[in-house]
Amino acid sequence: MSPPLRILGIETSCDETAASVVLRDENGRGSILGDVVLSQLEEHSAYGGVVPEIAARAHVEALDALIEEALLRAGVTLQDIDAIAATSGPGLIGGLIVGLMTGKAIARATGKPLYAVNHLEGHALTARLTDGLSFPYLMLLVSGGHTQLILVKGVGDYERWGTTIDDALGEAFDKTAKLLGLPYPGGPAVEQAALSGNAERFDFPRPLVGDARLDFSFSGLKTAVRQAAQSLEPVTDEDIADICASFQRAISRTLKDRIGRGLKRFKADHASVEKPALVVAGGVAANQVLRTTLQDLCDKNGFDFIAPPLQLCTDNAAMIAWAGAERFAAGLPADGLDVAPRSRWPLDQQAQTLLGSGKRGAKA
Ligand code: KG4
Ligand code: ZN
Repeated sequence: MSPPLRILGIETSCDETAASVVLRDENGRGSILGDVVLSQLEEHSAYGGVVPEIAARAHVEALDALIEEALLRAGVTLQDIDAIAATSGPGLIGGLIVGLMTGKAIARATGKPLYAVNHLEGHALTARLTDGLSFPYLMLLVSGGHTQLILVKGVGDYERWGTTIDDALGEAFDKTAKLLGLPYPGGPAVEQAALSGNAERFDFPRPLVGDARLDFSFSGLKTAVRQAAQSLEPVTDEDIADICASFQRAISRTLKDRIGRGLKRFKADHASVEKPALVVAGGVAANQVLRTTLQDLCDKNGFDFIAPPLQLCTDNAAMIAWAGAERFAAGLPADGLDVAPRSRWPLDQQAQTLLGSGKRGAKA
């Protein structure tokens, strides 16, 4: 039992400006009191990707009003807040500076503690906010900037079991869409096109299948897609649909192999965990083929499959507030006002940086 905590969360690491107030009650259960997210999709779509300078300016313009709105929706004032949690990495440095400086200013003005939160920790702990999940569990983060399989052992205690050695999965979707002439962001467009496609038509590579490590690789798959499209020039709508369906099938088979190995390792290492669980997070978690693949895999291996509601899988400030609440409740120290934002900040400090990973920056 610990006293109830109300935490204000701020998220500005990429192209969503977000603020939220989250309650952690005396039994450790979480609820979201007020939550606002402003997507910058429109500002960036003309450029086919996130433009860091535009993102930082948009955060500056929106953040103060979003914080006011989150407090209003929660029915609280800054005086009712126990601590402020702001994302301080990894991500685009301009946006991180905006969010963290705002958090520091509020902390200074109110005298409340500040938690500088790792964005990946926000994703990693979300399933405890939504489902009250106990440690340890496995988390697959699949977004535009990351593809990581993480063992979540406790607050502040993470082991990275696998990561991409080249492109992130969302990035592979976005690049595939781009070379097929589909709109940005590519994931939903590829999924939509694949609905009417023949997944058997192209036998695309299934990167790293059979490899004993738990890492991922998607750049070879993207190259195969490009070659298939070039060999068909000019591509018809039917070709696009077939390529997209075959692309998703290759991903599904790769994930089955990679994550399947991860589940077996978890069982071997944590035989005493009665009901093991796999949690998914990140924008790619919206994909139905991915969800069905993971659900099947979990059913076969005796795991619970937990997919938080989509608005909590993609970037949001409730997960940042919750991570702050967990740190506070666990007695971890708050951060000083001299804490610096970090564009790169691995969750698992022991994990090696893999050659070629994270080329697109540290967007999560
Ligand atoms: O987590 P997120 O919203 O933002 C960050 O990357 O920070 O993830 C965005 C990524 C994009 O690459 C987008 O194409 C992908 O998630 N995505 C999808 C789907 N919806 C979004 N990928 C596959 N299928 C989808 N339905
Ligand atoms: Zn993220």
